Amino acid sequence: MAGHQALLFVLLTVLQPYASGAGAAKGKISAVFMFGDSIVDPGNNNNRLTEAKADFPPYGQDFPGGKATGRLSNGRVPGDMLASRFGVKDLLPPYAGDLELTDLLTGVAFASGGSGYDPFTSIPSTATSNIGQLETFFDYKEKLKDLVGEDEMTRVISEGVYFTAMGANDLLNNYFLFPLRRHQYDLPSYVEFLVSSAVNFTMKLNEMGAERIGFIGIPPIGCVPSQRKQGSRECDSLRNQAAELFNSKIAKEIDRLNAERNVQDTRFQGGNRGMLWKHSAKCSNIHSISACMSKCVRLYFLGQLSSYRKSLQHCG
Ligand SMILES: *[C@@H]1O[C@H](CO)[C@@H](O)[C@H](O)[C@H]1NC(C)=O
Repeated sequence: MAGHQALLFVLLTVLQPYASGAGAAKGKISAVFMFGDSIVDPGNNNNRLTEAKADFPPYGQDFPGGKATGRLSNGRVPGDMLASRFGVKDLLPPYAGDLELTDLLTGVAFASGGSGYDPFTSIPSTATSNIGQLETFFDYKEKLKDLVGEDEMTRVISEGVYFTAMGANDLLNNYFLFPLRRHQYDLPSYVEFLVSSAVNFTMKLNEMGAERIGFIGIPPIGCVPSQRKQGSRECDSLRNQAAELFNSKIAKEIDRLNAERNVQDTRFQGGNRGMLWKHSAKCSNIHSISACMSKCVRLYFLGQLSSYRKSLQHCG
């Protein structure tokens, strides 16, 4: 299920720490927030009744202290890597965990293994749906407001960078697994539906105060061991194509949204268009698979992060 896939992807960032940038207060990043599925869940499912959890060995075998924290990974997850590349902190904790005020002030992850942009995806996996994650974000804001006051809460929210990483479960553990969506949609229309849902999610997050939203594309899911062809172990090209289709369509949508917002919304002044971050997706050595290492996971940005632009144009 969801947990198995997440184990396979390690995101190698090519970002420069923020400190090397031009450093205007406007571009300041003081918190990182992560929404998504098992690829980025650092342990929000630990106390949920779900198969998509990882608070036991061998998960965490390469994590500091060899501890299984609930990250569905042998080590850190992308939210940790991004937070540390931004110079915010080394680990991005799960909102469901034990947190101190400093954790709340510098960002948390709301991601839940098994989740997706399609609300149906989260039902069989009993994950927190994408809308559920937004509700949790709302709770977070209320909690922070109670602790530090509205002005400080608003500062944290506006200085945050937000990421969303979903879609793999929608394809693998929903569309290709259960008949319901296949009866309703052919593959291109289902991808359209996911893109629409992802855009709506992004817009809601934006309405809740997120100004800079990074969009993590779907990795080459046809190359995870569970999806490889019996016998030959070749990657499943249909699943990889579905992921690519989603990534190219969402890239266009993000460009469109950015273009619209430059006109309509002064918070996005500065004329930045959506930018492309490319990361290499590396397979875990557990299965010794190198084929998907050359593929890139893409991040697209809604909003303004101009000081990062230069360092992000190549694929690691
Ligand atoms: C996204 O929002 C639009 C406008 O509210 C709506 O028409 C559409 O059905 C939504 N898409 C999904 C997949 O829910």
